[in-house]
Amino acid sequence: MNTAQLIALDLLVTLLAAAGWLGAGVAAAARRARVATALLAAAAIVTIVRVTTAVALATGGWWFAQDRVVLTGPLLGVAGLAAVLVAGPRLITAVRAGTPGNSPSAVVPLLVAGYAGAAGLLFPFLVGYPATWGDVLVTVALVGTAGLVTWRIAGSGPPLWTFLPVLAMGLAGVGAGFASGADLDTGGGPAGAHPAGHGVSVADLRGPAEPAPGGQVRRYTFTARQTTVEVAGRTVEAWGYNGQVPGPPITAAEGDLIEVTLRNADIGRGVTLHWHGYDVPAGEDGAPGVTQDAVPPGGEYVYRFRADQVGTYWYHTHSASDVGVRMGLYGTLVVAPPAAGLDLTLPVHTFGETTVAGGPGAHDAAPGTPVRLRLVNTDSVPHRFVLSGTAYRLVAVDGADLNGPGELREVELRLPAGGRYDLAFAMPSGPVALFVDGEPGLRLGVGEPPPAPDGWPELDITRYGTPADTAFGPESRFDRSFTLVLDRGIAMVDGVPRYAHTVNGRAYPNVPTQLVREGDLVETTVANRGLETHPWHLHGHRVLVLERNGHRVTGSPLWMDTFDVRPGEVWRVAFRADNPGEWMNHCHNLAHAAQGMALHLRYDGVTTPFHGGHGD
Ligand code: C2O
Ligand code: CU
Repeated sequence: MNTAQLIALDLLVTLLAAAGWLGAGVAAAARRARVATALLAAAAIVTIVRVTTAVALATGGWWFAQDRVVLTGPLLGVAGLAAVLVAGPRLITAVRAGTPGNSPSAVVPLLVAGYAGAAGLLFPFLVGYPATWGDVLVTVALVGTAGLVTWRIAGSGPPLWTFLPVLAMGLAGVGAGFASGADLDTGGGPAGAHPAGHGVSVADLRGPAEPAPGGQVRRYTFTARQTTVEVAGRTVEAWGYNGQVPGPPITAAEGDLIEVTLRNADIGRGVTLHWHGYDVPAGEDGAPGVTQDAVPPGGEYVYRFRADQVGTYWYHTHSASDVGVRMGLYGTLVVAPPAAGLDLTLPVHTFGETTVAGGPGAHDAAPGTPVRLRLVNTDSVPHRFVLSGTAYRLVAVDGADLNGPGELREVELRLPAGGRYDLAFAMPSGPVALFVDGEPGLRLGVGEPPPAPDGWPELDITRYGTPADTAFGPESRFDRSFTLVLDRGIAMVDGVPRYAHTVNGRAYPNVPTQLVREGDLVETTVANRGLETHPWHLHGHRVLVLERNGHRVTGSPLWMDTFDVRPGEVWRVAFRADNPGEWMNHCHNLAHAAQGMALHLRYDGVTTPFHGGHGD
């Protein structure tokens, strides 16, 4: 059983326990001593099972079990035991004597155990990881208050002053919640050596003005504006760079200088250009409120950077990016030598209900032609691709070439939001078809395309290709180790308490900034406690995947800029801090980022004059 299934099982068992105890209490109050006794026995058994599931969850990582082990498990266990010891004998006596068994001393402990079970059910949804001292106090106080109220309603309750210590406990818990709140996470490394306000500003960390020797200058002007696009025969409202969706493709050769002048005609939420996966100098990164101010209607910003990374990338607005990217403010960035054969870049995007794999739907290609398909997922959810009619290789992930990629056929590729896969093959004599989420996408060659294949297994990219040496690995000594636990919960977003997408129990901008020093070797563990997939994306660096769920990468070294952390998964990744700046580090399901799942990573000594922006 994997961690996601264990989480589901644990919640189900907790639900049964809560229902069992509450049912027993209600039955006792309704003078049904026999039913109450049976339910008590069942609830006691389920409660014991619940202890097992909570402990089993710890095998997937402490983050999954912490709240259960330190709080909701013991709370349910103690309340259940008290119910058995206090209510049990009274109910059994009542059954034997044929009396109703509805005394408060039978009813109240059963209901309190039920409240404890309900708290265990709600806690993972409302709070999650980490369960702090404040959370413990508040939860125990809430269950205690409910118990005292029940006791008074049942008659013969305790005097009113007994509420005072419980109330005090709750208030102490709330206070503890407000008091806690470091705003910096040093990952176990030294704190900053640079006093605040002294250092280099991100605004000065700009790209070079010249290409590398022999390189060219690639100059573009993009004007973001409202437009419309035709999707599956319908006209839909869109926003586009130069009115185009996707925006104009940027292509360059290694060493070229890319210079893009961005203007905003009429996008009221402001626009920027973020070079996804491209490790540009921080001042060119396009994160509003962090590396620049968003470009307002009538405004302008010039981006300049050298095309030092070869491969498939993309760009998109980072201002109100959830809306902006969905509306069409994105395009592709491919750095490669001119290709012999057919080289297609296919940004996949969903407009309303319709997913399109960019570019024309059919191409002719003579048998033997080398073909490269560059798949780009510009959506916020993963897409599944299958290529039928030919064997092929997955030659690059997120722009980075894989080592020794073997021949693939009859597999499904799952591409994370924001990610890129490059597929390569020689055109066979028959037709080739690409399917996106089971729907026909691109077609190559002539003849009836093969039907949509079904049930092909997913390729595990952590085991694909051949290992090679890397500058660091799972055994390295890291200067800083960070942990990001992703979940949902109540947290402040933009000053308002919301049901947020959280990182370590907090939401942007209240998630502590990660501090690194230039040259540090940094590892990050990302654990997903929630029920949704989180495509994790750090700006300015690509990370080397070390482990997934405790299993090392056994195939090609895997350098990624966006990796899918599915429910219950734990990824361990690492990077060298070699690109000074203040960087966004966030979930690339952009709706999740907008609802709190984002933070900053800052190099010691780097400051930003930009504030107030949401960074998304
Ligand atoms: Cu592709 Cu911060 O984003
Ligand atoms: Cu997410």
